[in-house]
Amino acid sequence: MANRESLIEQAKDILRKNDMGGYTIPTHGLYPFQWNWDAAITALGWMKIDESRAWLEIEKLLEGQWDNGMIPHIIFHEEVDSYFPGADVWGTAQKPATTSISQPPVLASVVKIMLEVANDRELAKVKIDAMLDKLVAYHQWWYNERDPRKTGLVVSYHPWESGMDNSPAWDESLAAVPPVTWQYKRKDLEHVDAAERPHAAEYDRYLYLVDFYKQHNFDSEQIFQHCPYKMYDVGIISILHKATKDLLAICDEYGTEQSAIDDLASRHLLTQQAISSLWDEETQSFYNKNAITDEFVKVMTTGTMMALYGELASEAQAASLLTISRQWLSAVDYGMASTIPTSDKYEPQRYWRGPVWLHINWLIANGMQHYGFAEEAEQIKASTQALVEQTGYFEYFNCETGAGCGGDAFSWTAAIALHWCL
Ligand code: DGY
Repeated sequence: MANRESLIEQAKDILRKNDMGGYTIPTHGLYPFQWNWDAAITALGWMKIDESRAWLEIEKLLEGQWDNGMIPHIIFHEEVDSYFPGADVWGTAQKPATTSISQPPVLASVVKIMLEVANDRELAKVKIDAMLDKLVAYHQWWYNERDPRKTGLVVSYHPWESGMDNSPAWDESLAAVPPVTWQYKRKDLEHVDAAERPHAAEYDRYLYLVDFYKQHNFDSEQIFQHCPYKMYDVGIISILHKATKDLLAICDEYGTEQSAIDDLASRHLLTQQAISSLWDEETQSFYNKNAITDEFVKVMTTGTMMALYGELASEAQAASLLTISRQWLSAVDYGMASTIPTSDKYEPQRYWRGPVWLHINWLIANGMQHYGFAEEAEQIKASTQALVEQTGYFEYFNCETGAGCGGDAFSWTAAIALHWCL
């Protein structure tokens, strides 16, 4: 078992080795570009090494922002052929090339933390002054484009947008999407064991959706009306809700247009009112909902537990989620399995169907802390630290054995260790 100092050095070393000169790739080979929520979380790790480099991570991410405010899920800063589907498949004509979907908007929450922990206050002020309007535009994009009817709940158009790609929560909705009919070659399986990655049937549909956006010329209203996959994703809704609260706090301190503040504040309130429609009285839990059929997806995942992180649960709802999470946490030794182990969809080593992810443990522990569940928050933190000591810095971990899965020397794992559990 490695000691704390050497683990810290290893984590820093991972970020330096994954640094492409301003942006950090999640890991070599498997993910050779800049990902949206990876970049945000990785910046927290950079804050422990070099604050100016941490701000640069966010600036490089913002280089990919669309004119409509969207920050895409991948920024293809350079051409690299070890990943599929690359920029050519997405076909967006953006410069730099990007995908046409987003990812869980944890960014503003991370920026708020960066402002709080920054030693170089002057630098932080210069950076936030330059990027605040862009962060506001990103949140406005989520609300305007993904909740154009002002229901209070944004929708997601792709399992990749959830960041929890092959979560069992998406199975049924994705099955209603037709498969692509063209041939393609996956590259992820050249880097990682197929038992730890999504199935071919899922990829066929992931790609259908990519084609669908392109065929609709990335037109928001067309996609909103006709996309064959539309989810109310508790994870995205909660992360956006918390990030909007954090963004409003930043705006309060650093100032921005009053109309933008009012707009975000009213959207924030709408979500708080609408979230009850994702609560199931019978099982006393939140669930994702298919926005096309309006049916609940009754599988508990770390995404549905994000309501705690989003501060969207009432005290009574939080108490019920705590009861559920106690059994969940006691089923494995390393924090929260991404799918509840009692589910028949649970698989301990397959990507988002069971494995433990460090940044998710961190978000859930933050949510627990918010509701005063300090013991459980501490339990998650201690088991996360033990996992790093035992196994190191993989992308994710078999939740039963703690064995490393997916990519190794992984940026956000190293960053969360630096920021939180070490
Ligand atoms: C992948 O390719 O597996 C990524 O998670 C998509 O964002």
